[in-house]
Amino acid sequence: MRRARRSTAFGTVGLLSGLIMVSLSAASAGTVPSGASTPVPGPSHPGAAASSDSLHAAWQAGGCPLCHDVPDVAPASRQDSCTDCHTWIRKVSASPAAREKAMQVFPLWTRYEKNVASYLQVPSLQAAMARLDPAWVDGYLQDPHDLRPGLPEGMPRFALSDAQRKAIVDGFAAATASVPATPAPDPARLAAGEALFTAKACAGCHSLGWRHKETVLPMAPDLAHTRARMDKDHVAAWIRDPKSLSDQATMPTLPLTDEEVLALRDYVLLADIDGTPTSAMRSGLPAPTTEPVAWADVEREVFGKICVHCHMDPAQNEGRAGPGNAGGFGWAATGIELQTYEGVVSVADRIPDALARRRHEAARDDVAPGELPAALTRPERPGMPLGLPPLSDEQTALVLGWIDQGMPRE
Ligand code: HEC
Ligand code: HEC
Ligand code: HEC
Ligand code: HEC
Repeated sequence: MRRARRSTAFGTVGLLSGLIMVSLSAASAGTVPSGASTPVPGPSHPGAAASSDSLHAAWQAGGCPLCHDVPDVAPASRQDSCTDCHTWIRKVSASPAAREKAMQVFPLWTRYEKNVASYLQVPSLQAAMARLDPAWVDGYLQDPHDLRPGLPEGMPRFALSDAQRKAIVDGFAAATASVPATPAPDPARLAAGEALFTAKACAGCHSLGWRHKETVLPMAPDLAHTRARMDKDHVAAWIRDPKSLSDQATMPTLPLTDEEVLALRDYVLLADIDGTPTSAMRSGLPAPTTEPVAWADVEREVFGKICVHCHMDPAQNEGRAGPGNAGGFGWAATGIELQTYEGVVSVADRIPDALARRRHEAARDDVAPGELPAALTRPERPGMPLGLPPLSDEQTALVLGWIDQGMPRE
């Protein structure tokens, strides 16, 4: 098979990550990560010591450090970390000197800047471990759903074994912050809580189901999920002073009296939020476009822009193939490479199904403010693109049209 040797996005990124240390680090605004993926010795939570090996193995199997700061695990290198490499591209762009240098080294730099959008921010795992109910985490890892309506990307669906999932859930249990006991929730506090929710600026960052839909901050979760995620004592302690549970908390500590904390807690836990499940159930596929479509069009709009980042051609990327090709997030290797024309053509018969599954899953994974994730049966294999919003109708029609037209190269 003929290998296209042109300098594609990821070919250049492979080069980029190799060169960065020597040529750009001085000008770059960011710090250069160590590049090591070895564990930092010593668990920080006493209860975790016995299981730290299986926990560490489970973090790696799920690829958690590719996006999250995982306690006691050294960050993934910039060459591998979705979050670190993407934010680095943004940081270099923001510094005129570094940007100029990057543009000399990487011919496609302006395209990178324009396209990199996902995983620039992810929630802190340490803050999540301090406050979330481990039983909820167990369910979420099996069937993740949209928690933050202002954040387009979500968590990938994993294929972790029961033992791997248990190790992670136990890790959450061992890291739960101990907090003072509080009185039982009381509907008598609801009215006061509702008024405070707006008066104390909670509504400026958080949505709460259909009651507060104007989400301002992408990283603030929709508090409609909180009653399933946290117990009453952790909700109260978090509202009082998030930093006392985790130094990674980004929510500000607001001056509140004890009564105000309880009123806000009870509004979050008891207010009626029985809204409609998301109406964005886009099952089925749109009609293929009848306009002529060539490889360059689908490469630019879909495969080279979205899919390649997990389905790389190792020949063009110093051996790196990405989780969708070499295996990752617990999934076995597929050997599917979507960087070259030949790679895409060889699996084209599987692509429409993979796109349709994602549209089906979108009713849980991509939920509009004010709506709730729909209950649905997950197809055995995850929809594509994994963890990201489904392709738009236009992008889908383009791919289907190109396949219908016999996948013309020109
Ligand atoms: C490709 C990036 C990516 C990877 C890999 C990843 N996550 Fe996430 N994770 C996210 C994003 C994005 C969110 C926020 C989702 C949302 O709010 O809808 C998230 C949210 C979470 C949450 C909820 C936290 C909160 O504050 O609401 C937990 C718990 C979590 N991830 C655990 C894990 C574990 C455990 C692993 C490894 C098995 C993992 N994640 C791997 C991107 C990732
Ligand atoms: C070494 C740097 C680097 C790493 C590591 C990296 N990316 Fe990217 N990513 C890029 C660049 C550069 C682009 C833009 C490429 C283009 O459009 O030509 C991009 C674009 C993307 C896009 C499409 C645009 C967007 O942001 O939605 C997705 C999806 C994506 N990457 C996913 C991932 C995932 C998932 C991981 C981790 C498994 C990852 N990337 C790791 C550099 C990186
Ligand atoms: C400046 C934005 C901001 C404001 C104002 C704010 N929060 Fe938050 N809140 C966040 C973010 C971001 C998180 C996610 C964890 C983190 O990063 O700290 C969060 C997390 C939470 C959680 C945990 C929910 C869960 O399911 O994980 C609760 C409960 C909460 N906030 C309640 C409140 C209440 C009540 C108020 C008003 C008194 C409030 N917040 C004000 C940004 C904000
Ligand atoms: C965030 C990483 C990621 C992105 C982005 C991604 N994939 Fe995947 N893909 C995977 C993983 C992991 C698997 C293995 C899952 C499995 O075994 O079904 C996979 C499997 C597949 C499969 C085989 C599944 C089957 O049922 O035949 C196809 C086809 C596929 N991807 C196409 C795509 C297309 C098309 C895109 C872009 C629209 C895309 N992928 C984007 C990670 C990704």
